[in-house]
Amino acid sequence: MAVSESIFRKDGTAQGVAKQRLIETLATPEERIINDPYAQRFVLGASFIQFMGHKFNVWLGQKLVPGFHEHLISRTRYLDDLVQESTASEYGQYVILGAGYDCRAHRLELPSWLRIFEVDQSEVQARKRSKLPAEASNSENITYVPVDFTDQSLSQRLLDAGFDKSRSTVFTLEGVSQYITKEALNSTIKEVATLSQNANAILFVSYVSELFKKNPVACFGRGYPNAEKRAKLITYGSEKAGEPWVSFYSAYEFESALSQNGYTIDENVTLKDLNSRYFAPVGRALAENQLLQLEHFVIAKSQK
Ligand SMILES: C[S@@+](CC[C@H](N)C(=O)[O-])C[C@H]1O[C@@H](n2cnc3c(N)ncnc32)[C@H](O)[C@@H]1O
Repeated sequence: MAVSESIFRKDGTAQGVAKQRLIETLATPEERIINDPYAQRFVLGASFIQFMGHKFNVWLGQKLVPGFHEHLISRTRYLDDLVQESTASEYGQYVILGAGYDCRAHRLELPSWLRIFEVDQSEVQARKRSKLPAEASNSENITYVPVDFTDQSLSQRLLDAGFDKSRSTVFTLEGVSQYITKEALNSTIKEVATLSQNANAILFVSYVSELFKKNPVACFGRGYPNAEKRAKLITYGSEKAGEPWVSFYSAYEFESALSQNGYTIDENVTLKDLNSRYFAPVGRALAENQLLQLEHFVIAKSQK
């Protein structure tokens, strides 16, 4: 490992999600929910994971935190569907907030006219770009916009990068809200609202319920085994990765933050809802007590 790689500390969780996409990609085409041929480029130890195969990795994951793999993969697929459906018709811009190593822009068949903006911390973007192949599909439609949500203006940077306020836009903030302060999330939603003043917009945001801290048993779902121990393991994992979870929300708080900015919630789902949609049809439905309700996946809309 190069020294610069070993001291690089900002992409631990981005790698963690890419690792689950890599594991899912190892399943047979008939069984997998998503396909991410780029994921292996970003994951340290990818060859070992590939050698161990899909079934072993999923089995191991089930031992550590049951439903964790499926939770992340259902989130990816849920967004794949949303982005494909919305951009096939009206929506001409797609802004991926906290994109990490998400390669949706490359791996989905998206319309050639779609403008895509990827937003993340500059170091994470630099590593991503250094690992992507020159021939990655759709690269010409992507603009990278380095922004730190904590202290930089999202709207100004996007406008400087060519964001068009008159185009209908899909914004996604996937697996990010728990890593940033509530102030940073609120100002990001406000900036999204400013950017979408003149056109229809869809905003996807995932969040972790405040029950995660207060009552893991109620958070994860009825019968989920050793919920408190698993919550501690997840907390420990994110701290170890150098990106601790700092923000948790009530449904009311989240809805208020969106409605104050002109967004109405269209859907608020968890793995419990997506299990039957995605895993059951390929014979991989999880049992009731494995349905880890770790994050809520929210689709909100602002219509002009
Ligand atoms: C768990 S990863 C999720 C990545 C991607 N959305 C996915 O689902 O694969 C969290 C991402 O949020 C980004 N992030 C965390 N704090 C941030 C901040 N203050 N400003 C910008 N991006 C941030 C990280 O760099 C990382 O890429």
